[in-house]
Amino acid sequence: MAVDLRARNTLGLPCQAHELQVITSLAQLQAGFPRWDEASLLVLAGGSNVVLPEVWPGRVLQPALRGRQVREEKEAVLIQVGAGEPWPELVRWTLAQGWSGLENLSDIPGWAGAAPLQNIGAYGVELADVLQEVQSVDRRDGRLRRWQRADCALSYRDSIFKGAARDTQVIAGITLRLPRRAQLHLDYGDLRAELDRMAVSTVDAQSVATAVSRLRARKLPDPALLGNAGSFFKNPIVSQAQADALARQEPGLVAHACAGGQKLAAAWLIDRCGLRGQGNGKVACHRDQALVLVNLGAATAGDVLAWAGHVQDCVRQRFAVELEIEPRVYASC
Ligand code: EPU
Repeated sequence: MAVDLRARNTLGLPCQAHELQVITSLAQLQAGFPRWDEASLLVLAGGSNVVLPEVWPGRVLQPALRGRQVREEKEAVLIQVGAGEPWPELVRWTLAQGWSGLENLSDIPGWAGAAPLQNIGAYGVELADVLQEVQSVDRRDGRLRRWQRADCALSYRDSIFKGAARDTQVIAGITLRLPRRAQLHLDYGDLRAELDRMAVSTVDAQSVATAVSRLRARKLPDPALLGNAGSFFKNPIVSQAQADALARQEPGLVAHACAGGQKLAAAWLIDRCGLRGQGNGKVACHRDQALVLVNLGAATAGDVLAWAGHVQDCVRQRFAVELEIEPRVYASC
């Protein structure tokens, strides 16, 4: 039976799918094999990092497994969570238990199971810092597989699940490892400034979480009010030589050293092209964060990709830099 996925993706794009199957247990997920081996299967989690086509003629699987299991060790707390646990609730719950480590990752929309795919990250911390293991069901044989952190090839907004293992696994759960003597990560400039503004007497995990929430609320639109998928492009990494040349040409260029050269702030590049707050009537660059494309109400995937293409063209022409789209774009069928 056809189903509309508009309410199941944070960009709020209309998508008519052939069939939706919401799975809530591992047994159900394994029993579903070999249905998951269809090429036309779309695995959807919280829908916060996807551009869905207007029509998807195949099956949609939503692995909505819930549950949290805690194993306390001397040095760390291990938390195994079902893929369908909403990430923001999970972070709040760990903090309420007195466990730190996830505070910088507060309020990232989406489900825990999708977090390894693009190695979610914010304010100086990424999932790679806390991930211990990923559990998945192999779409080709229905078997349960366990991936240790080193197997996941996590890097900036990337993992094996977007590369060599793309479309072969349904993630069923993840295990996080939160060291008991976790250090706070306060290096991100905006975060430090926000903590200063809050003027708390002692900075702890909870105050970091509050600062992150305040920063995000100021810059990032609430998908419930204005459809969006967070950052629409990755921050591009260019060679040191190219960054130096650009910095000479463009005073104020925002860049940070990283493996492979310099990571440029895509938001700054887009902003500098005069595109912040601009759009095509259907889609726009958010007025408070140019890297976030927002659905002005009636957009389809085509409208989003048309505006994204225009942004890429402008940035290429002015800076000779390629912007790579960050969410998963499903081809129109
Ligand atoms: N800036 C502008 N114009 C803007 C917005 C920002 O010039 O409209 C400048 C800022 O002044 C700042 C720089 O661009 O110096 C970077 O901006 P920001 O700190 O907001 O971070 P970002 O690089 O745009 C990344 C992540 C976000 C994450 C934040 C905070 C990516 C693609 N995005 O954004 O992640 O929340 O850092 O750590 O790496 C997401 O992936 O969906 C996401 C929201």
